[in-house]
Amino acid sequence: MPTPSDRKRNVAVVGATGAVGEVVLDLLVKRGFPVGELRPLASERSAGTTVKFAGRDVPVLEAKPEAFDGIDFAFFAATGALSKDLAPEIARRGGVAIDKSSTWRMDPQVPLVVPEINPAALDKHRGIVACPNCTTIGFVMALEPLRRAAGVKSVVVTTFQAVSGTGKPGIDELNRQLSETAAHQRPTTQTYVQPIAHNVLPLCESFRDDGYSTEEVKLLYETRKIFGDDALDVTMTCARVPVRVGHSAAMLVETERPLSAEDARKALAAFPGVIVKDDPKHNVFPTALDAAGRDEVFVGRVRKDLVSNKLWLWQVADNLRKGAATNALQIAEEMIRRGLK
Ligand SMILES: NC(=O)c1ccc[n+]([C@@H]2O[C@H](COP(=O)([O-])OP(=O)(O)OC[C@H]3O[C@@H](n4cnc5c(N)ncnc54)[C@H](OP(=O)(O)O)[C@@H]3O)[C@@H](O)[C@H]2O)c1
Repeated sequence: MPTPSDRKRNVAVVGATGAVGEVVLDLLVKRGFPVGELRPLASERSAGTTVKFAGRDVPVLEAKPEAFDGIDFAFFAATGALSKDLAPEIARRGGVAIDKSSTWRMDPQVPLVVPEINPAALDKHRGIVACPNCTTIGFVMALEPLRRAAGVKSVVVTTFQAVSGTGKPGIDELNRQLSETAAHQRPTTQTYVQPIAHNVLPLCESFRDDGYSTEEVKLLYETRKIFGDDALDVTMTCARVPVRVGHSAAMLVETERPLSAEDARKALAAFPGVIVKDDPKHNVFPTALDAAGRDEVFVGRVRKDLVSNKLWLWQVADNLRKGAATNALQIAEEMIRRGLK
């Protein structure tokens, strides 16, 4: 006998021609999501082109309010301004917008969800659910097992973020600059303020007046909201590195109760969606290349700080998969499981 969860859902992918949108389309098929009608949406520039879905060429439509008629889930992976305008349109039509932009994340009416951590927040949705920033997702996935084992008081984190975190323009910039430098030409800059090829930029997005970048403060406030813990201290530096896919982070974690490196490794390994890759004797640790194309968050280099009771760890996740598309799809799957859609 069919259950509500067997029903097909009509799905829109807003930003279907972009870096995240392409992965959403791919994962809808790979995860066996119950897609009825698929509506790929993008700007008027792409309207009339096609995207591949389940071996078919599906026409791209312009993202307009009417495009959401009859849609159950709309995955938003375009611009913040578009999410602001159009997410309420799908909510008004009885569907759910699952938004990858930062627009709705800190809205108290909007759940900010990593399904392994705070799925119950979905129960209060009002038609819009926000996905955390790609860096926040890997970060909280590595923290949550430690939080459950020993509580977390504070974290100092430095991130090493891939160019695909800036979408297709970031990937194009790195590829172009690598060609230019290989031809002994000066690298031209369009997307980043300084060359990214053969370089490390201690800036993701743009600087605020207080000297932090907009990306950095997301780590603090989004983490607090997901954990429901306004006392948690997070301080950070986010850097862009010439890696195509996979955000890495070095994290120094102060737990509330003492936690040995061995117990931390056990807690991490037991958590769904986390893989521990940590064997220093054999030079085993996770890298961006390991994480690229994977849904799991990888953790290694778990060790006690030499001068305090804190723990160091190294965490890596695919920013386009768990950092974006996978998490968004998991949210939809969890909503179906909970009978919310
Ligand atoms: N990349 C990541 O790792 C990552 C991770 C988490 C969250 N996000 C967020 O996900 C979103 C998409 O990022 P991305 O990396 O996939 O960017 P991207 O590769 O630059 O793709 C942007 C997409 O948005 C569409 N778009 C742009 N302006 C539009 C408009 N006015 N109307 C309709 N569609 C429009 C583009 O369509 P056209 O082809 O027609 O221009 C394209 O499909 C952003 O909000 C980003 O912050 C990205």
